[in-house]
Amino acid sequence: MALLHWLTSKQAIQAFSSFLFACLLAFTLQIFFFSPISPDSLERPSASCASILPPNNRLQGVTKLGEGFLKEPEDISVDKEGIIYTATRDGWIKRLYKNGSWENWKKLDGETLLGITTTKEVDLVVCDSAKGLLKVGENGVSVLTSHVNGSKIRFADDVIEASDGSLYFSVASTKFELHNWYLDVLEAKPHGQLLKYDPSSRETSIILEDLAFANGVAVSKDEDYLVVCETWKYRCLKYWLKGENKGKTDIFIENLPGAPDNINLAPDGSFWIAQIQLTTEGLEFVHKYKALKKFIATFPKLTALVNGVNQKAAVVNVAADGKITEKFDDSEGKVMKFVTTAIEFDDHLYLGSLNSNFIGRLPLKVA
Ligand SMILES: *[C@@H]1O[C@H](CO)[C@@H](O)[C@H](O)[C@H]1NC(C)=O
Ligand SMILES: *[C@@H]1O[C@H](CO)[C@@H](O)[C@H](O)[C@H]1NC(C)=O
Repeated sequence: MALLHWLTSKQAIQAFSSFLFACLLAFTLQIFFFSPISPDSLERPSASCASILPPNNRLQGVTKLGEGFLKEPEDISVDKEGIIYTATRDGWIKRLYKNGSWENWKKLDGETLLGITTTKEVDLVVCDSAKGLLKVGENGVSVLTSHVNGSKIRFADDVIEASDGSLYFSVASTKFELHNWYLDVLEAKPHGQLLKYDPSSRETSIILEDLAFANGVAVSKDEDYLVVCETWKYRCLKYWLKGENKGKTDIFIENLPGAPDNINLAPDGSFWIAQIQLTTEGLEFVHKYKALKKFIATFPKLTALVNGVNQKAAVVNVAADGKITEKFDDSEGKVMKFVTTAIEFDDHLYLGSLNSNFIGRLPLKVA
């Protein structure tokens, strides 16, 4: 009896070790042959003073505009007449008149619209992450540019017009796309670009390369520099357009409390930067281990588990000198999560999100 027991437990151990071995083999095969990424480790920068600012949950007090009518309004722009535009996930450009009525303005063929900007000619320029840069006007839609240096523009993300008509826009990743953008974060290798479209020559050129998920783009009040945000480096760069530093790049702000998404110039010359929660709280360690990331990247469900964007929302105001002056958040994601843009207009902040069916409006001057 004792011998039999000893034998069966020995067999059990053997069976168990074979099972473990098989798992290990499967894990290794998965990592080395099937993983879509070849990652570097990613360390979150140390907390700056602003991250220690206590939560204020001001974003829980927003008024919801167009609720139920707007599917994931990622970016917002306001024209000279105060009409508010947004691009939605179902391919619409919708606009809000000053009298409070919404209009389904133009339907675009595609579900990959991201950053938008109104331009001087009362046209709208839209980043379509599948097609490139589009121009949308009363008379229809046209593609402004779809290629740069012989390659297809893969993941146009945000755009801004300078007063000479040049359009500066970001390419978040030349490797991944909107539907699997999080793999770019897991891979943590810089595949982003800053591009420029010149309307007179109709040429597109590469201004900066090797950016860490190039996201929001804004031009300073005096147009002496441009800011481009690098999402998973938690920083934004300053690219000089004028003066003795023309063509050079500095850091505008680093160690942001969240990962920067879109950035918009405010009337006083400061900037509003949406802050996304890139990693799930408690699972930040995942980003340090290359093999673990390779494994996770092979399963969409695991990838979603480590992505923290739907946990909360935050936006910061950064003065022209690169100092944070204000932070508004929804620390529990009760009303707004995954806020991707904040734009100031008429003493209110308008907030877009990839997890909302409305635009949030927050009064900035509280009586
Ligand atoms: C609001 O203004 C738009 C544009 O002028 C107009 O088409 C719409 O009918 C107006 N809505 C209301 C409720 O007055
Ligand atoms: C443009 O493409 C050529 C040929 O593929 C390549 O050698 C060059 O480095 C590219 N230029 C930039 C700025 O990426």
